[in-house]
Amino acid sequence: MTHDLVIRSADVVTASGTAHCDIGVKDGKIATLGTGLAAREVIDATGLVALPGGIDSHVHISQPSGPGIEMADDFTTGTRAAACGGNTTVLPFCLPEDGETLRDAVTAYRGKAEGNCLTDVAFHLIVKETDAVTLGQDLPALIEAGYTSFKVFMTYQGLALSDRQILEVMSVAKAHGAMVMVHAENEDAIEFLRDRAERDGQISPYHHATTRPVPVEREATHRAISLAEIAGVPLTIVHVSNGEATEEIMRARQRGLTVFAETCPQYITLTADDLDRDGFDGAKYVCSPPPRTRDEWDNIWRGIEQGVFDLFSSDHCPFRFVDTAGKDAPGARKSFRNIPNGIPGVETRLPILFSEGVVKGRLSLERFAALTATNHARLYGLYPTKGAITVGADADIALWNPKLTKPIRQADLHHGTDYTPWEGFHVTGWPVRTILRGVTTMLDGAPVGAPGGQILHREAPDVLR
Ligand code: URP
Ligand code: ZN
Ligand code: ZN
Ligand code: ZN
Repeated sequence: MTHDLVIRSADVVTASGTAHCDIGVKDGKIATLGTGLAAREVIDATGLVALPGGIDSHVHISQPSGPGIEMADDFTTGTRAAACGGNTTVLPFCLPEDGETLRDAVTAYRGKAEGNCLTDVAFHLIVKETDAVTLGQDLPALIEAGYTSFKVFMTYQGLALSDRQILEVMSVAKAHGAMVMVHAENEDAIEFLRDRAERDGQISPYHHATTRPVPVEREATHRAISLAEIAGVPLTIVHVSNGEATEEIMRARQRGLTVFAETCPQYITLTADDLDRDGFDGAKYVCSPPPRTRDEWDNIWRGIEQGVFDLFSSDHCPFRFVDTAGKDAPGARKSFRNIPNGIPGVETRLPILFSEGVVKGRLSLERFAALTATNHARLYGLYPTKGAITVGADADIALWNPKLTKPIRQADLHHGTDYTPWEGFHVTGWPVRTILRGVTTMLDGAPVGAPGGQILHREAPDVLR
């Protein structure tokens, strides 16, 4: 067979191990894994590692974030940054504007993404209303149409659902075959702690962390698991930040429940002390759950190593720092309450995990591939077209130089925001080429080519098929 493209002599990371071979690509798909393959175009990958293109199943792009607040990435900049960070697919969330239906929100997001993306895109939903039309008509129809996962929130005013509402949403997931993702933090407890902190004059960004302590997350994690058990559905707990929440997930599995878990770079590299940086700089680190302590890094690592975590995502949620539509929102310096929640990370997720995990000997290449691509595809209905270097799959590949060492610098990144929380953080191992369905989208850290990303149709999660 003559291939369109051959990637020659890479260390190719497949599900069954790492093999030194060529990858033959035809019509955007992986056609052959072998040696001595011929093609019109050859990429010499000697000394490079070929990994499945990253799938980041937790990103926020162009999401409404409150009056006067604007997310720093649209689909052009968000997917450009993703591709430059070794990713070939991202899964952002469709959040309806106030008064907008879920169905109309999906149409609007598709319109924003169409023709602008340097990665493929598939959408999760956010369910913030539980009226009869949403739960009786829109959500079932959207699940049938391939929107087979959605997030519910236990925190944030305007988003948080009651336990009863979460059960109602879970019932729809059960009836129609979808995955429920939960943001687990106890809103009432946070409100109590916030009000008290403000009364005591504790208003700086640091108090975002002190008012969202570990028990707030541990309790909500336990409650979300219990609700899923009552409703009889599998569950994904997103952005787990600490050891006690991790233990709740382990215990649920020991009881035979199907609970998946996600963690993020911020929970193995940042601490609450970062929110206490000079001046207003702490606002750059305000995200929920907040970064914790170095001891919690160890707890999260133990969870990664023991297989508690299935997913390593960025929770990319970018706001500009020097901007009243971003971190410097009106009132933000008067109370941490008014600082938009979220940090950018879609371009730095993979290098951070590669450097901290693979290079430091905590993770095999195969486990890295599972945490950053394969499991995302399986859990969210994209496997086996996406998520693995295997014959028949889309030719979504990231070529990595495992020895390239350089610090993370805002000046080198491609997102729409004006800072990175990891400025100066040393990384060994960087993606040097990203390939989407056989077409290069990043070379040596720079975006390449026209935005050829597609909006993907999803099937049901593997666990529900
Ligand atoms: O602070 C965060 N994580 N913002 C993004 C929204 C969310 O809760 O995932
Ligand atoms: Zn080799
Ligand atoms: Zn969340
Ligand atoms: Zn998020």
